[in-house]
This record gives sequence, structure tokens and C-alpha cells, in this order.
Amino acid sequence: MRTVTSLEELKGALTDLRSGSDRIALVPTMGALHRGHEALIRHAVGPDTTVVVTCFVNPTQFGPGKDYERYPRAPEADARLAGSAGAGLLWLPRMADIYPPGEMTRVRVGPIAASMEGLHRPGHFDGVATVVIKLITAARPDLLVLGEKDWQQVVVLRQVLRDLLWPTTIGVVPVVREADGLALSSRNQYLASTERVEALALSHALAAAAEAVANGETDGATVELTMREIMAEAPSLTVEYATVAHPETLLRLVRINRPARAFVAARIGKTRLIDTRALTP
Ligand code: PAF
Repeated sequence: MRTVTSLEELKGALTDLRSGSDRIALVPTMGALHRGHEALIRHAVGPDTTVVVTCFVNPTQFGPGKDYERYPRAPEADARLAGSAGAGLLWLPRMADIYPPGEMTRVRVGPIAASMEGLHRPGHFDGVATVVIKLITAARPDLLVLGEKDWQQVVVLRQVLRDLLWPTTIGVVPVVREADGLALSSRNQYLASTERVEALALSHALAAAAEAVANGETDGATVELTMREIMAEAPSLTVEYATVAHPETLLRLVRINRPARAFVAARIGKTRLIDTRALTP
């Protein structure tokens, strides 16, 4: 696996890769790679596909005073994981290439970005959309590979690519969980051991929601209340949202009479976690 930083190096590496491979898949990440990212890379690697991984902690998707500064950075370990998972190219963009002095353009996402993460992290999806458009403009991938855990991000980016006439397709890879159900996240490493135990309330809440719906519960508010009640049992956890929504429009569902999705977000101490799960009536 080759590693590049500057746009010039990236351009050269991509020219070489394109001559030997039919397709380029981009796995955009903020680094601190774990088994969830590894699954994204492994999903994309194929005989006719070369995987380009980016690690860039994107400042424009963090609100003021949030964890941009302390977000984990581990470039050596990232390179080892990306290489062993089969990536062909690791791009570690320089800040000055992505946000050069004097830059002033942002992608402004519409109402699809207003609920859940968008409500609790104002401006977050504008930052995500802006950086992803920059990354794909530079790398021109055929496929963009994203994780199911950030389902709203997937839906938002599908909308953005459609609206901006980008032909890149999006591949979605299922959430990777620890054996006890905790969804893998680079932020899990912030959790103290007692917080780590309480964090299981998120996946337990989602499991209860899925079970209730599978057993015939069709009332969206009742399922949301079930999730809130389970998370309320964890004393140091503050729920931000527990929502049942349509998987594509992200509108809240009053009645669950078709495949739906449950979304949860909570803060535990200084750590904010999200998780999601499909609901099948
Ligand atoms: O999901 C992430 O890690 C980030 O939001 C992304 C897509 C890499 C953009 O910075």
C-alpha cells in the first residue's frame, strides 16, 4: 500500500492505480481506524477494485467546543490496519489542501440533514458534505463506502451526490459490534470502564425496539418510549434522541407498517455515541 499526502502525489498515484484497476473505491474516514473501518475496506476490495482510504479529521463537521482537538489520531496504526485490510492507497490529506487559506465555499444540505444528528450538531452535515465533495473531487472514485452506523450520513450523502450530479455510487456496510453488542466507534476509547458498561444501553434499546416491532408493535411513539426507558436505566447516560423513522426520508413514523429504522444518540460523560438498527414489522 502506498501512502500519499499532497494533492500532487495523490494525482500521480491515482493515475498509476487507474491504469491497473477498473474501479476505484473510496473509504473516507477520520482515522483512529478500528474493525468497523476494516470491514469497509474489506467490503470494497475486489479483483477489479482498488481501495483508497482517507484519514482526515475534518474540522468543519465539529461544533465549537466539541471534540475536534481531542479526536484520536493514530496515523501509524491506521496505515497498518488499512494495509492489512487490503487498501491500495492511503491518502492523509493536508489541511492546506482541503481548506486552503482564503477558501470560503460550503455545501449546504437541505432538510434531510435537519433532524437527529443535524438537530443536535448544527452544521455537522454541511461540514461532512463539504469535505466528502472535496475528497471525491480529488479522488474521483466509482464507489464511496460508508458504514451503516452513520445511517443519516449515508442518506444525506446520497442526496448530496444526487443533487450535485455526482455519479458515484454509495456502498453501505453493516454495523460492526463488539461481542456484547456495543457498536464500534473511534470514540469508544474515550469511555471509562463504568461508562463502557452503561454504553451498552444503546444497543440494548435498539434490540428491544427491533423485538417489539417483530412481535407486532406498530406504534412509533411506544417503541421510542421503550428505547428511552431502557437508556434511562443507565445513570450517567443522557439521551439526545431515540427515534423511529423511515429509512430513506428519515421522517418520524407514527405507524410502523413497513421496514423502518430506530436511531439513538446519547452522551455518557464527555463521550457522545450513536447507533441504529433496522426494524422489520
Ligand atoms: O464518518 C466519518 O468518519 C466522517 O463523517 C467522514 C465521512 C469521513 C467525513 O469526514
